[in-house]
Amino acid sequence: MAIKRTRIVDIFAPQLVGKQVSVKGWVRTRRGNKNVQFVALNDGSTIKNIQIVFDLTKFSDEDLKPITTGSSIHVEGLLVESQGKGQTAEIQAETLEIYGTADPDTYPLQKKGHTLEFLREKAHLRPRTNTFGAVLRIRHTLAYAIHKFFNDRGFFYLNTPLITASDCEGAGAMFQVTTLDLNNLPKTEEGKIDYEQDFFGKQANLTVSGQLEGELGATALGAIYTFGPTFRAENSNTPRHLSEFWMVEPEVAFNEIEENMDLAEDFIKYCISYALENAKDDIDFLAQMYDSELVERLKFVVENDFVRLPYTEGVKILEASGHKFEFPVSWGIDLQSEHERYLVEEHFKKPVILTDYPKEIKAFYMKLNEDNKTVRAMDVLFPKIGEIIGGSQREENYDKLLARIEELEIPMKDMWWYLDTRRFGTVPHSGFGLGFERLVLFVTGMTNIRDVIPFPRTPNNAEF
Ligand code: 4AD
Ligand code: MG
Repeated sequence: MAIKRTRIVDIFAPQLVGKQVSVKGWVRTRRGNKNVQFVALNDGSTIKNIQIVFDLTKFSDEDLKPITTGSSIHVEGLLVESQGKGQTAEIQAETLEIYGTADPDTYPLQKKGHTLEFLREKAHLRPRTNTFGAVLRIRHTLAYAIHKFFNDRGFFYLNTPLITASDCEGAGAMFQVTTLDLNNLPKTEEGKIDYEQDFFGKQANLTVSGQLEGELGATALGAIYTFGPTFRAENSNTPRHLSEFWMVEPEVAFNEIEENMDLAEDFIKYCISYALENAKDDIDFLAQMYDSELVERLKFVVENDFVRLPYTEGVKILEASGHKFEFPVSWGIDLQSEHERYLVEEHFKKPVILTDYPKEIKAFYMKLNEDNKTVRAMDVLFPKIGEIIGGSQREENYDKLLARIEELEIPMKDMWWYLDTRRFGTVPHSGFGLGFERLVLFVTGMTNIRDVIPFPRTPNNAEF
């Protein structure tokens, strides 16, 4: 009878030593001499490889020849305590089945130590490297932590649409969704494109945020969160921007801005602690390879209170700093990453929640303060990342919200349903959006956002 496969993550259990085991996976390396050959096998379940020992009195050169880096095999044999150092157990091979070979002359990951830039060109195969295996497992662990955090606190997971007819952030950088024939567009009498003939009978786009629909959920279910893809067609080629990224957006009825800040801080600390506990091997691997201060930085964030500071105070600190910024600072500017990072990395040396931004640089739905100049916004700023969360208390007053919509000339035909939340049983409420990849960046210590999503979408890049 065939033995049931053991995943490599489970193979190092002491009770398996002395037992017959079956493993399946991809070969990382093969080395040895004419008496014995050692194969390091990985199956993706852990950063660790299992060492398989082939005794050349039992296997011929011919048997082992197809076992090159990248090939896939199935081995059965006895699990024994390892002789070699750094290994706890190894398998003495008794049977070998080869699933697929990987020609050493053409397999792109034949050699070790490729640069991250090179691997971006091989995004279809890079999950097979140690680095991307670790990153993707950490990404999964964080996604699970997010669902667990909200579920444990009574939030409901709400699925908001990816195709929308509204522009939540007013940024105007959206991908259009259409089935119209681009070479033969139907026109109205005034010569404009006739979207009534388009698939949805109106112009439609990929969503930039699930917030507006999230507010509908929160003002019915009390507390919801979304967790899904969002799309932004900005032409920003930076290490922190993607055209397609995942956002987590909690929205809570009756929460004011302070409670929103508490939620954001608890949430982010929970996710980082969860990863430290549950993805330790992978975090340690990345720390050792790329960033020796990683674990210390993660613990520091978990153990310390975030600074909470109004935008106006932040601007004063930047102006008084004497630091030469590429973009000069004055009250009213939209802070650049260099300003955010100065506050976090140089001045406070801690994460900062910046609040009460000028209304001109924030979205229409944010609640206006008494000063009529600032809104109850909150951005969470992180070392190495800059903005990781953006959120606010929402304007719940119908007249004030309408005035703001008119001021910004947002087309009312798109917004009537949103305004209904303020017409019928309106309540104070707040929420925020966490850029999931920015969290994964922080926890993995990677420096380019293209390296923390399996298939990055950026300007001119949608190959894989
Ligand atoms: O600050 P943003 O634009 O906020 C919103 O979309 C609100 N509707 C959220 C809310 O209140 N429910 O985006 C939220 C977060 C940012 O803080 C950042 O972490 C991330 O999303 N983000 C991006 N991440 C990767 N690539 C991009 N192009 C991003 N744009 C924003
Ligand atoms: Mg923002």
